[in-house]
Order: sequence, then C-alpha cells, then structure tokens
Amino acid sequence: MEYVIYIIIAYLLGSIPSGLLVGKLGFGIDIREHGSGNLGGTNTFRVLGIKAGLLVTSADMLKGTFATALPFIMGADIITLVIGIFAVIGHMYPLFAGFKGGKAVATSGGVILGINPLIFIIMLATFFLVLYISKYVSLSSMITGIVSVVVSILFQDYGLTILIALFTLFVIYRHLANIKRIINKTEPKITWM
Ligand code: G3P
Repeated sequence: MEYVIYIIIAYLLGSIPSGLLVGKLGFGIDIREHGSGNLGGTNTFRVLGIKAGLLVTSADMLKGTFATALPFIMGADIITLVIGIFAVIGHMYPLFAGFKGGKAVATSGGVILGINPLIFIIMLATFFLVLYISKYVSLSSMITGIVSVVVSILFQDYGLTILIALFTLFVIYRHLANIKRIINKTEPKITWM
C-alpha cells in the first residue's frame, strides 16, 4: 500500500510544471507559446535565458530524484523503478498543466541520478559530447538515451537497463517533431558551444 502512495506522490511531483511556473511567475510568459512550445529546460533556456533555463532544468531533474530517493534508500528495488517511471509520466503528462508537459529528458536523468550516479555522470558526458559535435539538444538527448542503455548493460544492472530503455523510448517518442525538423534541417542549433 505504501508503494501506491509513493507512485501517486511520484506522479504528482513529476506533474509540477517548473517551466510554466518560472515563466509565468518570473517573467509573465507562458513558454508553451514561445520557441518550440515545449514545457522543458531547453525551451526555457531559449525563451527566458540561462538563469531560468538552469533553474527549470534543475527543478525538472530533482522531481525525478526526490520521487525515487526515499523508496530507493528504503531498499524497494523493483518498485523504485516503477516509481521513477511515474515521475517521468507526470513530467510528460502533468496533472497541473493540462497533461501537456516536457520531453522526458531532465526528469529521467534525475531518476537515474538517484539510482546510479555513476551512470548519470556518463550520461552527462555523452550528452555534452554529442551537443558539442552536433549542436542539437534534441539529438544529444536521444543519443544519450541510447548510449545509456548500452552503458547500463555493461554495468550488468539489468533492472536499470529496462528502466533506461523505457525512458529512451519515451524520449524518442516525445522528440518525433524534433526528428522531422532535424531531417528537414529546420531544427534550431545552439550557438553558445
Ligand atoms: O529536452 C528537450 C530537448 O531535447 C528538446 O527541446 O524545446 O528543442 O524541443 P526543444
């Protein structure tokens, strides 16, 4: 029964629309009406600048970390993975923002940070390497997901492999519009790296 409560809390935590809150409270702007229209860290960087972008990205990550940290510390192995999935579902389909949320990247990263910080660091390094080469945040997010599946297999952490594989499917599904833009060469590149 306590696990059901953790799952509900995870979904509600994931549902906190950081980008919407920072945009509306700090700038009087709904970021869903600007840039890519996505309610995530990248679009916050794009529309509201570096400080707001860092704040939203960190908050979106911490939603995943907080949701899974307590059950993980208490030794709830498999159920921790389920709880992490619900935090990410909350982020993608938030109760508090009309079920139109982000693209699963930061919150998935936050869940993995709480469960295996070493794999998270490898993910971060992969992300910035691909970003440095490609200048596409979306492509970096998707390739990081795919690489992380392989890394978790090498770590022989097969529960985490299933979780990361699922997160990667979420990330790719949520980036279908970005994939089309990359193919059409209309996806915006970052200019600061
Ligand atoms: O984390 C989301 C990112 O990969 C792409 O966001 O706003 O460029 O669609 P956006």
